[in-house]
Amino acid sequence: MAEHLTVGRVAGLTGVSVRTLHHYDQIGLVRPSTRTAAGHRAYAAADVERLREVLAYRRLGFGLREIADLVDDPATDALAHLHRLRGLLLDQRDRAAAMVTAIDAELHARARGIMTTPEEQLTIFGPHLYDEIGCAYPATRRTEPRIAARVREALGDARTVLNVGAGTGSYEPADREVTAVEPSAVMRALRRPGAAPCVAAGAESLPFEDGSFDAAMAFSTLHHWRDPVAGLREMRRVARRVVVFTHDASDAGWRHRFWLSRDYLPETAALVAGRPSVDRLAAAIGARLEPVLIPWDCADGFFEAYWRRPEAYLDEHVRRAVSVWTRVGPEPERRAVARLREDLASGRWAKRNRELAGLDAAELGLRLLVA
Ligand SMILES: C[S@@+](CC[C@H](N)C(=O)[O-])C[C@H]1O[C@@H](n2cnc3c(N)ncnc32)[C@H](O)[C@@H]1O
Repeated sequence: MAEHLTVGRVAGLTGVSVRTLHHYDQIGLVRPSTRTAAGHRAYAAADVERLREVLAYRRLGFGLREIADLVDDPATDALAHLHRLRGLLLDQRDRAAAMVTAIDAELHARARGIMTTPEEQLTIFGPHLYDEIGCAYPATRRTEPRIAARVREALGDARTVLNVGAGTGSYEPADREVTAVEPSAVMRALRRPGAAPCVAAGAESLPFEDGSFDAAMAFSTLHHWRDPVAGLREMRRVARRVVVFTHDASDAGWRHRFWLSRDYLPETAALVAGRPSVDRLAAAIGARLEPVLIPWDCADGFFEAYWRRPEAYLDEHVRRAVSVWTRVGPEPERRAVARLREDLASGRWAKRNRELAGLDAAELGLRLLVA
């Protein structure tokens, strides 16, 4: 076996055009870092391994920018990439199988003269928001220790903990026996090797017996649940204690407390319209509500995290790791960012938000529900 593979040879083996390989080289994604005896540029073993990862992620539908973030992540070695790719491919296979089943059912129904409704025809595509945006998540989303301490305190002496909507597992306490639940295959695949075991499921239907855990926690996920009250009741059913970090979706709450949603992104109103207020959620499981102030230098880049560092919202990486921006759509996002940029340059933002400069932590409508 040749130690080094020329660009032409790699093109032949992979079916990827030489032009595409040159493009990957130009943008720094995969470089043929060595030369053959004849002086031709060639891929060394490590380059081939990286190219294999890039091509696999590409085949799974990831964009080149997302792939660059994934393959450059120093915390993920080749083995972890293989595990992640395997998980994503299995998920893709399962989804394809589910679509075949749905199409077979429709063919069968049509043969008997029964038409499926437009809604039924579309449900097989399902909303998989985090499968679209998940890859951008690790860039800025990590554990904020001061909020993690609040979660740990609320968990009390719980030994077994279920983490619902676990994502990459940022708030999973290392000193407890954690089981994670996460519906997005991309988020599951982004969990670190050695992270707590993760089950593919949604909050509204937890695949566990009553009282299986000492505690169930959910962090920054409830706003995504189709039916948050049903999800909370499920948590209550499977665990003796419930701890949830979320925002107050009522008009007087989150949206009006935070300058970004209030002054720049009024489209957030549509995201929370019809969602239950935090009081209603708490009442559904008999929880008490504790305000959580957001520190000015919050380490976890969620939507409100940069309330005293407004320039951060001009950074695409910061925005891509927060679902709100994707959910409002590209035009409102473009408008909000352009206006914020102008107001920062003109000093208008600073004038309007003068009182924030002296605060170390802000009350932005974020709450801990503890039941
Ligand atoms: C903002 S992320 C938070 C992830 C993690 N809890 C953290 O704090 O880093 C929201 C997560 O909720 C998940 N999610 C969406 N719908 C869900 C549902 N119905 N049940 C449980 N989790 C859900 C998403 O896939 C995503 O991973």
